[in-house]
Amino acid sequence: MKAIMITKERGPQISRHVYGHFSEHLGRCIYNGGYWVGEDSPIPNVRGIRSDIVEAMKAIRVPNIRWPGGCFADDYHWRDAVGPREERTPIVNVHWGGVLENNHFGTHEFMDLCEQIGCEPYICGNVGSGTVREMRDWVEYLSDDGQSPMAQLRRKNGRDRAWKIHMFGVGNENWGCGGFMTAEQYAMEFRKYATYIKNYEVMGKMNWWEAPDILKIAGGANAENTEWLEVLMRSVPSSLMKGVSVHCYVKPGEESSGTSFSDDSWYQTAVNTLKKEDAFLENLKIMDRYDPEKKVIMAVDEWGIWVDNEPGTNPGFLYQQNTMRSALCAALMLHIFHRHADRIRLANLAQTINVLQSILLTEGDRIVKTPTWHVFDLFKGHQDAESLMTVWENGPDIIEKGLPHVELSASVKEGRMTVTLVNLSTETNADIDIEVPDALPASASGRVLAGRPCDHNTFDDPEKVHSVPLEGIHANGHTLSVTLPPCAVAALDIALA
Ligand code: AHR
Repeated sequence: MKAIMITKERGPQISRHVYGHFSEHLGRCIYNGGYWVGEDSPIPNVRGIRSDIVEAMKAIRVPNIRWPGGCFADDYHWRDAVGPREERTPIVNVHWGGVLENNHFGTHEFMDLCEQIGCEPYICGNVGSGTVREMRDWVEYLSDDGQSPMAQLRRKNGRDRAWKIHMFGVGNENWGCGGFMTAEQYAMEFRKYATYIKNYEVMGKMNWWEAPDILKIAGGANAENTEWLEVLMRSVPSSLMKGVSVHCYVKPGEESSGTSFSDDSWYQTAVNTLKKEDAFLENLKIMDRYDPEKKVIMAVDEWGIWVDNEPGTNPGFLYQQNTMRSALCAALMLHIFHRHADRIRLANLAQTINVLQSILLTEGDRIVKTPTWHVFDLFKGHQDAESLMTVWENGPDIIEKGLPHVELSASVKEGRMTVTLVNLSTETNADIDIEVPDALPASASGRVLAGRPCDHNTFDDPEKVHSVPLEGIHANGHTLSVTLPPCAVAALDIALA
């Protein structure tokens, strides 16, 4: 029996925004089965937005959605997608499949989606092919409650009250699809663009240099490219740049099929996911050097496992299945975010519906919750909770490829403790004693998601992978004993006396 003690030492708060999602105009995320079905669709919808998707996202308390890209963001011109839908200018999605989009899902529809879900918008503006004025005007359009030309235009288009905008991305991957810029060049562009992103909520109520700012997030690089981050940290003051994005895609090793692989790929995915922490640490070191007070956040605003597209689907649509291996990647990555909660304050899983590591798959009027959706459901107690230090007293055992048998994370909020655990072994149960010092667990319950690494949900078998109550939790004084089945992700909800 291995023991773990959860110390009373409290770490930083885990921002709920690390549980964010990313929805790009890509494949079938927005159109063709995604959020937007239109008001006349037989699929139940509210103002054209699919209700089953909204309900599934509300259930896991999605805190924010990043939109409209991705690569798409730097080719997106927001004015083409506001006003009467039949008059909107279509756009060819040059990055993803070359499809013609009618722009019926634009600013108003995205903000409506966020309001229906009860989450915050995290809009990414166009630097690659846009202008400073276009971005400045978009922010005014969204958030000015006054008499500005953009506020008037918004009212003409049917929305009286301004929306609240607390975070804004200034371009995406501008080293690549966002304009192929050098880091130095982008840093200069960022300074210019960010200057004109204003907080209209407080405008006129205080001097702008004293006003609370919008969280302006610079487009970042992949976690391994620290040079880009270093240039940004060196070249842009924290008064302008409130966050830097870092992208982090995990490959499953040589066996990249979405549904058919050996247990070795499960272990390799765990290794590859945990290795990302080293990459984050390199980035964090740089950030600490330039910003020891941690004023600038790290936003991992694209992350997830990237496997093969499903056979027979449009290669530009990135439609991928989602297995217990995907759930493993999600659980381990969320634990990494918890461990660096003082700096990683925003993260967005790529990409919500029918694209990459989706939480939902759709086909016609049918919807499937993926194993990854279940991880977000199990982990939701961590949102905005204080992280807790965990220390092994004896353990964990080391299994294949030098991996720990069990990996875990703990937090506390309003007298309840959430402990999430991963059993990384595909063969062996894990018995664990969890010591909760200074508080007696008054009651504890748990849920567990388990299966074989390849298990996944399909439209014919949508409940093959789902969470069930974790039986056999024993409390003895300050100690809780649990047994996890192999290949499992679990969550304990502990009420403290
Ligand atoms: O998520 C798919 C693509 O991956 C995004 O559009 C881009 O930012 C990244 O390279």
